[in-house]
Amino acid sequence: MILPGDRSESVAAAVRALASGELVGMPTETVYGLAADASNDVAVARIFAAKGRPSEHPLIVHVANASAVTQFAWHIPAFAQALMNSFWPGPLTLILHRLPQVAAACAGGQDSIGLRCPSHPVAAALLNACACAGISGLAAPSANQFGRVSPTTAAHVQSELGEKLLILDGGACSVGIESTIIDCTRGVPVLLRPGVLTRAQLEAVCNGPVLGRDALPVQGTVSPRASGTLESHYAPRAKLRLMDAKALQTAASLLAAELCDAHVGPATVALYSRVPLADTGRALLQRRMPDDAEAAARELFSVLRDFDAHGVKLIWVESPPDSPDWDGVRDRLQRAAS
Ligand code: TXA
Ligand code: MG
Repeated sequence: MILPGDRSESVAAAVRALASGELVGMPTETVYGLAADASNDVAVARIFAAKGRPSEHPLIVHVANASAVTQFAWHIPAFAQALMNSFWPGPLTLILHRLPQVAAACAGGQDSIGLRCPSHPVAAALLNACACAGISGLAAPSANQFGRVSPTTAAHVQSELGEKLLILDGGACSVGIESTIIDCTRGVPVLLRPGVLTRAQLEAVCNGPVLGRDALPVQGTVSPRASGTLESHYAPRAKLRLMDAKALQTAASLLAAELCDAHVGPATVALYSRVPLADTGRALLQRRMPDDAEAAARELFSVLRDFDAHGVKLIWVESPPDSPDWDGVRDRLQRAAS
């Protein structure tokens, strides 16, 4: 059931559902999340079951504001505090040392916890109303089946998780790819998952380097398992291949020439490129990728879903530029291709 997220009755209904241990589809500025009361282990177990996600993969806990962090985490390094001050509410998740006995089911057995304060007005309203009702955090992974493309509209969530789920409709997500994740438990900031915030922006705030995922050994015996960091993730059903502009242009015209006379049924190949391609008629499905990284991030997952909905078997995508503003989009496309 999809409810308008900007109505207080809808938010109240969502709080009641969460308080009784049910799940709620929640819009955020990045992607939609599948939320449960982070302190209710039974409710959290329902998230893993609904997504088909292995229970040792930790979930992000969403909070109403930065002061709620102390209810979940201890020892907040100065650079983590600076990141919160600059980027919360917003598309940034921090991995911090988890307080023992708190949100253990969300953490998937790890002694750390991922925390994020989203900026979407409906998420903010829901988190504030939850805080008033005594729920201090909402565990919420992206609201998709494990390994699949994250949802960026309420309709996507419904198609992934069914009609019964209460979903707050907050419109199309403005960021479009998942939050940047910074591990703050290793003494220096470590980038686990790129998002729309650039490394330069993060380093300016941390006042020092932000290391790559493999730069430092993890302390302790359990290394954080981040499903967003698995090689193959965020995958559409169709096989996705990245190509440079020239290879894509050549392949597209060869294929179009071969198909143009013979072609009758729906397209089986989709093309997504910044360079213009020759008109291939109805034989190939074509979409133009925006030249700007933020715009490309915003539409990426819904474009991939759309190609899937058309039943194509192959998606050929022009490789994104090498510049740092494209890190998040490049990361998602490389995973979708692997
Ligand atoms: O933008 C987002 O982050 C969205 C919205 C809903 O907030 N959420 C999201 O959740 O992408 P999910 O579960 O699909 O991805 C969260 C990532 C996973 O790769 C998970 O393994 C990692 O965060 N993560 C969570 N807690 C962690 C921890 N304690 N240590 C290491 N990685 C963690
Ligand atoms: Mg996910």
